[in-house]
Amino acid sequence: MFDPDKFIDDQVQKLRETVKGKAIIAASGGVDSTVCAAIVSKAIGDQLLAVYVDTGFMRKGETESIDGMLGRLGVNHVIVNASDEYFEALKGVTDPERKRKIIGEKFIRVFEREAGKFGAEYLVQGTIAPDWIESGGGLRDTIKSHHNVGGLPTEMNMELVEPLHDLYKDEVRKVARALKIEVAERQPFPGPALAIRIMGEPTRESVDIVREACAIVEEEIEKAAAAGKMDLPWQYFAVLLPVKSVGVQGDVRAYGYTVAVRAVESLDAMSAAYMKIPHDVLEAISTRITNVMKDRVNRVVYDITDKPPATIEWE
Ligand code: XMP
Repeated sequence: MFDPDKFIDDQVQKLRETVKGKAIIAASGGVDSTVCAAIVSKAIGDQLLAVYVDTGFMRKGETESIDGMLGRLGVNHVIVNASDEYFEALKGVTDPERKRKIIGEKFIRVFEREAGKFGAEYLVQGTIAPDWIESGGGLRDTIKSHHNVGGLPTEMNMELVEPLHDLYKDEVRKVARALKIEVAERQPFPGPALAIRIMGEPTRESVDIVREACAIVEEEIEKAAAAGKMDLPWQYFAVLLPVKSVGVQGDVRAYGYTVAVRAVESLDAMSAAYMKIPHDVLEAISTRITNVMKDRVNRVVYDITDKPPATIEWE
């Protein structure tokens, strides 16, 4: 039987014996990196620096909530606002794979800079067992290059520390509970974040629209699920389409953007079925999106495609 408290004590002791200098970790707000940061911080205190990079593509309230959580855990951390750099690097970029590549590379540059400033000698990573088992077994999805923000190159000149290396997800969750980390049972979210939910160039304006739309989709669906109207989907979000269409506002012709809503059921993201959401829930989503963003969005559509032939994300 896995004992989370014993695991924490053993790791803290081991880390105290092996980590003899400053260490750095990329904190994403996900359970693995948060648990890792909390354990290493227990062992070496402020010799650990957790770096959270705000790329400009985070969900609504995400940066603030991660900042608060790391603070409550007593983890020495820094929030790096790198959004200007990201928007600059993505100027005119519309190809999904180029977006992923640029975002992944930029992340490495920003992180390296912070590691250098701090003088870190150790790199802490929240790798868990399925991460290395899958990449070794050639099971990786080759349809999209799943560049994880946080996926750092091994040639960084630091010694690797991976306290969760042999744990499975359910064990990490047990450790999280033992550490009183609110394990957000949140839906999967892609590393490149909202940048790949904008069909076209990611700009401050387009990311604002998709951020608001995603927040509305999440809220309305979670509300409907809590009220027993539907099951919580595997993933549910909004995508901003590069299509403008004619609408009417009052008695004036409008010309605004289109938002697509996506909600799917899945077991492992390898295949997925579009979710048969009650129409009143779809209507609430559509009404809110077009009210809140009156001047910008005048059409909301629902994606009724399974994977395959589509994928879950649009890019
Ligand atoms: P697709 O769109 O390929 O997505 O059906 C399968 C799952 O992977 C997520 N996804 C990503 N995750 N980096 C990630 O970390 C990425 O670039 C990326 N692209 C897709 C997607 O949200 C779904 O859960």
